[in-house]
Parts: sequence; C-alpha cells; structure tokens
Amino acid sequence: MWDRHARWWQETFTDGADPEYEHEILPGIAAELSGCHRILDLGCGEGQVARYLLRSLPAPAAVVGIDRSVAQLANAQLANAQLAGDPAPHYLRGEGERLPFADASFDGVVCALVIEHAEDADAVLDEVARVLAPGGRFVLLVNHPLLQGSGSGLVDDQILGETYWRVGPYLDEGVTWEEVDAGVRIPFAHRPLSRYVNPLAEHDLLLVHMREPAPPAELLATSVAPDLEQSIPRLLAMRFEHRPRAAGPSPWVGAGTRVEATYHRPEACDDRPSRGASDG
Ligand SMILES: C[S@@+](CC[C@H](N)C(=O)[O-])C[C@H]1O[C@@H](n2cnc3c(N)ncnc32)[C@H](O)[C@@H]1O
Repeated sequence: MWDRHARWWQETFTDGADPEYEHEILPGIAAELSGCHRILDLGCGEGQVARYLLRSLPAPAAVVGIDRSVAQLANAQLANAQLAGDPAPHYLRGEGERLPFADASFDGVVCALVIEHAEDADAVLDEVARVLAPGGRFVLLVNHPLLQGSGSGLVDDQILGETYWRVGPYLDEGVTWEEVDAGVRIPFAHRPLSRYVNPLAEHDLLLVHMREPAPPAELLATSVAPDLEQSIPRLLAMRFEHRPRAAGPSPWVGAGTRVEATYHRPEACDDRPSRGASDG
C-alpha cells in the first residue's frame, strides 16, 4: 500500500511541501532527541526525519532508518545519492514488529506517524523497548488520538448556527480507511492513548514530555473556523525515557492495567506484505 503511494507521500509531505513537517515535526523530533547518538527511525518512509536528524544533531550521530516499503526506501536511497558526501542515514527493509537489531542497540528511537499503520502496536512497542538502551529516549508521534480519531472533525451546522469540534468514539479501537487525497486511501488504526502509554510503562519507558502543537496557520487558510481549529491539535508527540527500575513490582503500573479501556479488536489492515513480498 505504501509502495503505491510513495510518490504521493514524497510530493505532498517532503522537501518543504508540508508546513507541519517543516515547522513542527522535524524540529520537534530533533529537539526531543537532542544528545542521542545512535538513532533508529522506525518507519522512516523516504527518510526525511533521518536526514534532518543527521543535519541538525551534533556529530557523531548515526541514524538508521527501517521501513517495510520498497518504494519508500528506494526514494530514501535516491535522496542519499544527492547528499554529495554529507553524512547519510543507513536504510534497511524490515518491520517494526520484528526489528533486526540486538538489544540496547540505540540511545534514541523515533516512530513518526507510523504506529497508526502498524497492525500490531504492542509488538512494535515491545521491540522499541528491547532495542533502546537504558537511559535512551523514544519519540512517538501520532495523529492526536483524542481529537483526530475516526468521527472527529469540524462541524459547521448552518441550520442550528453552531460550529464546533466533534470527538468520535474515543474508546473504540478500530481501523478506518480514509481517502486522504484524490485516489489515495490509507488505513488508520485508532487506539486510545492508554494503549501506547501503558505498554511502554510496563517496559520502564516513562512519559516525560508531550507536545500538542497548534496547527500551522497555512493549513487553516481555507477553514470556516480558523480560530477554533487553531485550538485543536492535529498531532501528539510524546517523549519516553527508558528508566529501568530495580527488581520488584512496578511503581508505575499495577498488575492487569496493560489495557484500561474496553476496546474492540481492530480489523486487520490489508497492506501487510507477506514475508519476502515486495509491496510495502
Ligand atoms: C506516514 S509514513 C511516515 C514516514 C516517516 N516516518 C516520516 O515521518 O516521514 C508511514 C510509513 O510507515 C511505514 N510502516 C507502516 N507500518 C510499518 C511497520 N509495521 N513496520 C515498518 N514500517 C511501517 C510505511 O511503509 C510508511 O513508509
């Protein structure tokens, strides 16, 4: 599925095309990972986050990108070829659910707008915790689960004369196929926030910082209610730190609290490649 849409992704979201990436996402991730040296970009796509980190973090940052889409990775390699001798990220094909790295290989991991497309978020988070060294940082960036889930959005009711932001069914977990552009349909898994924070806490990855940036004004140019939309974040960026506790019961998570919300098992996304298949 991401192979089919790799060109759309590149044209719409990279190289300055998207104000949110330019003003919020790229600098925000770099700020959260400042001080890290061995960084994994999980679901790197065509590599814009990895390249930005190498440009902006002090040497000797080594950045490895992994993605399951062949076409996204081909674009990432093309971009590397244009770096003309500057440090370039390393890329490999693989799945976040089965990372091909030894335990504690990285002191920074970023997963930017990826986990909504992963079928098995628990496996991805387990793997992040495994490859992150003690003291390391994990930056998880998602479409805001509370405000941007399926059924959420601006309602401009001309009959009642009300304009408001509707929140969809927050606790219901599921996958929705959304037409995000003409001819581009992508599955988004909605999960309540506890489905990310609690499994990470079980692995001693503790939430230490959050960003909920206001949308850039450029994106609201055609909004019927820009002031309202300005107060509704599209993104949620969370930084977790790996702080292994001494042996004994967790002070952070009680037994049986892995999932606090009642939720329905999501339908499978149909974009998962069979092992060895070339589509991503
Ligand atoms: C929305 S793009 C984001 C790309 C990149 N993180 C960025 O911010 O520019 C999502 C990417 O995640 C990748 N992806 C989705 N699920 C994945 C998984 N389970 N393992 C590895 N990559 C995955 C897709 O192939 C796609 O390239």
